Amino acid sequence: TRGGYAHFMLKEIHEQPRALKDTYYGILHDVAVGEAVKLMHDADKIYVTAAGTSFHASYYFSLLMSILGKRLVIPFIASEYESYYLTASDKDLLVVVSQSGETMDALKALRAFRNRGAGVVAVSNVVDSAIPRESNIAVYTRAGPEIGVAATKTFTTQTLVLSWLAIAYAEASGSLSKSEADMLRGWLGRSGEVVGKIIARLEPVAKRLAEWFRSVGNAYYLSRSIGVPVAMEGALKLKEIAYIHAEAYPAGESKHGPIALVEEGFPVIFTIPNREDLEKLLLGNIQEMKARGAVIIGVASENTGLSDQLDYHFRIPDTHWILTPITHTPPQQLLAYYTAVSKGYDPDKPRNLAKTVTVE
Ligand code: F6R
Repeated sequence: TRGGYAHFMLKEIHEQPRALKDTYYGILHDVAVGEAVKLMHDADKIYVTAAGTSFHASYYFSLLMSILGKRLVIPFIASEYESYYLTASDKDLLVVVSQSGETMDALKALRAFRNRGAGVVAVSNVVDSAIPRESNIAVYTRAGPEIGVAATKTFTTQTLVLSWLAIAYAEASGSLSKSEADMLRGWLGRSGEVVGKIIARLEPVAKRLAEWFRSVGNAYYLSRSIGVPVAMEGALKLKEIAYIHAEAYPAGESKHGPIALVEEGFPVIFTIPNREDLEKLLLGNIQEMKARGAVIIGVASENTGLSDQLDYHFRIPDTHWILTPITHTPPQQLLAYYTAVSKGYDPDKPRNLAKTVTVE
């Protein structure tokens, strides 16, 4: 049941604190983690694949493996597997991320890699679904059933599990010390509590902003580094339930084309990870947008040095940047939700979309 909430999507957004805690305690004791890390170590090449929201989590994983683990992980969209699988052999590993565990595009990619002898690690929310069943190892999110078509709590919990795997890999391979790894795991352990505060604080802000967003025709979602998949997720939510054209891309690309579209009043949502180097780079991107009259919405730490640049500020408590998908996505889910509702749409049943796509 919707348990007093107007929609499943809103209920599931609010379930994130609990879903993150359950996922954290689940993975803390999961023996599959060690086995997955061993497969990652032994692999010649590592690929990660998924569709939609799960691909955004996968892309985050590849960035984290590079930043923390100093290891290249090749991300690709599941329906594009035919352009990749011929490069795989029995020395390689494919990580498949799928909340339902039944997405046909992801399953086809898995089978193509298996046929070439590659090992497979699944990350799923549904125990014993097709993708985990056909994998060597399965690691689970513990988000509970997700009814709303738009993925919410399954995304933030996927990024928790994938962060955990990247940290474990980086620690085992010596690129992170035990104390650094423990510190990062500590942040993951507190993420549920932090998200509870974020939702309570920012739901009214999202609701107010939605009153303007209901009338916009386009929006850009920009960030850099590990913020980029979060921007991609923010844009997808707005598209799929509020039917507003939204485009996400790494902020440095603006001057290579997209800024041509920006004029007075054009909304640009910046996902700003809590990292000084990224804030510095994003400052230039914010200024070039403002110079063309863009309205700047920043999802950023409450202590960011960029706050006077922002027309709207979703104030995120000061946390470690590794939590960016967990801390910076919920306000963007809420913005999409309230925009859809104020336009009179049912966010639980977006047009043309099914919860699980079991056809190619
Ligand atoms: C977006 C959404 C879809 C799914 C995609 C993959 O809100 O829900 O993009 O993320 O269809 O589904 P799973 O994770 O079940 O493989």
